[in-house]
Amino acid sequence: MDIGEFREFGKAAVDYIADYFETIRDRQVMPDVKPGYLEDLIPKDAPNNGESWQEVLQDLDRIIMPGITHWHSPNFHAFYPSANSFPGIVGEMLSAGFGCIGLSWIASPAYTELEVVTMNWLGKMIGLPEEFLNCSDGPGGGIIQGSASEVTFIALLAAKERKVAELKAQNTTLTESEIKGKLIAYSSDQSNSSVEKAGLLGSMPMRLLPADENGILRGTVLAKAIEEDKRKGLIPCYVVANLGTTPTCAFDSLEEFGPICQKEGIWLHVDAAYAGTAFVCPEYRYLCRGVEYADSFNFNPHKWMLVNFDCSAMWVKNAKYLVEAFNVERIYLEDAHKGMAPEYRHWQIALGRRFRALKLWFVMRIYGVEGIQKHVRHHISLAKHFSELVGKDNRFEVCSLSMGLVCFRLKGMTHSQKHC
Ligand SMILES: Cc1ncc(COP(=O)(O)O)c(C=O)c1O
Repeated sequence: MDIGEFREFGKAAVDYIADYFETIRDRQVMPDVKPGYLEDLIPKDAPNNGESWQEVLQDLDRIIMPGITHWHSPNFHAFYPSANSFPGIVGEMLSAGFGCIGLSWIASPAYTELEVVTMNWLGKMIGLPEEFLNCSDGPGGGIIQGSASEVTFIALLAAKERKVAELKAQNTTLTESEIKGKLIAYSSDQSNSSVEKAGLLGSMPMRLLPADENGILRGTVLAKAIEEDKRKGLIPCYVVANLGTTPTCAFDSLEEFGPICQKEGIWLHVDAAYAGTAFVCPEYRYLCRGVEYADSFNFNPHKWMLVNFDCSAMWVKNAKYLVEAFNVERIYLEDAHKGMAPEYRHWQIALGRRFRALKLWFVMRIYGVEGIQKHVRHHISLAKHFSELVGKDNRFEVCSLSMGLVCFRLKGMTHSQKHC
């Protein structure tokens, strides 16, 4: 494909996306297709000779569109919101256009530098304490990861390294593998599946403690579990607090968890994947009180903040623990600017990095803080309106309303049938 064809193809693709959004309201949200539908519509092997872009684009309608679930339809109510916006889409396109791999500062300086700046902007926008920001001159900072799942896992690995280092410094008689075999983590039984998965991947049992009737894990329950485990000879290492649980968007109290974790030397991670965007609005920041106790904090602009997947914002109070956990040097990765900017490859699993900061920057600049606040408040007011409508219908009862999430059920269901 030459550059002239690329211009035509690219413009046609943008038109295709614009047409898609103009007609999305009329599309059936869930496709009718059955598993394996696509195989019957597509040749068994890749074409020997290249085809024209026009033919390929035509096949989007014939083959791909019938299997698309329309997450951005106003009639889509499943899972959680998946953010999207035109500035975000264009940021993603341009990032693909540059096509760099930001594996170090020198590999594409703007990649790192814009990420540093946008993560400072974003941290300030949600009212994070200064020590989490790259601009604080301390050891803290922010990075964009691919998903909240990755972040919870990465924070667990950093917590593990910190605990091992701490015990070694205290001249423990345990070997490193004995320490690692005794580590234990905690979260609520309302936390996302990814929290349990982080424990599995990181070989650290994750105790999912019972939340109260409002979906909140109380500090007293956490403290009791920690005491029990210490009596068994285990070493409490990692706690994941939920600010906005997946089932009902309930908020654990960082003011309850924080002092417990501090006393026990436990890494406190905050999973605010969905609801973190609400902290852009000062009136919701009370739900984040106690955040100064956290060691790491995460929310997903790709859920509610108009940035298309993937864009998961992570801040740590001390990046040293990430770097110590993940730093593997090679001569071909050396860079004369070492130490002058964060080397984000040491803060993440992969070596290569995408230019995710570009779409985030576009969204923040084109909407502005006020535009994003307006978007959040609008969603919350729609949820309130919806819950009032449900409340007026005597067939249903509203079980919870938090942020943009309304949980309701048919009246008169038995306990075992109740699924909020
Ligand atoms: C509270 C919470 N944490 C984590 C996740 C996982 O997010 P991701 O897909 O970015 O890993 C979700 C997604 O639903 C969530 O609601």
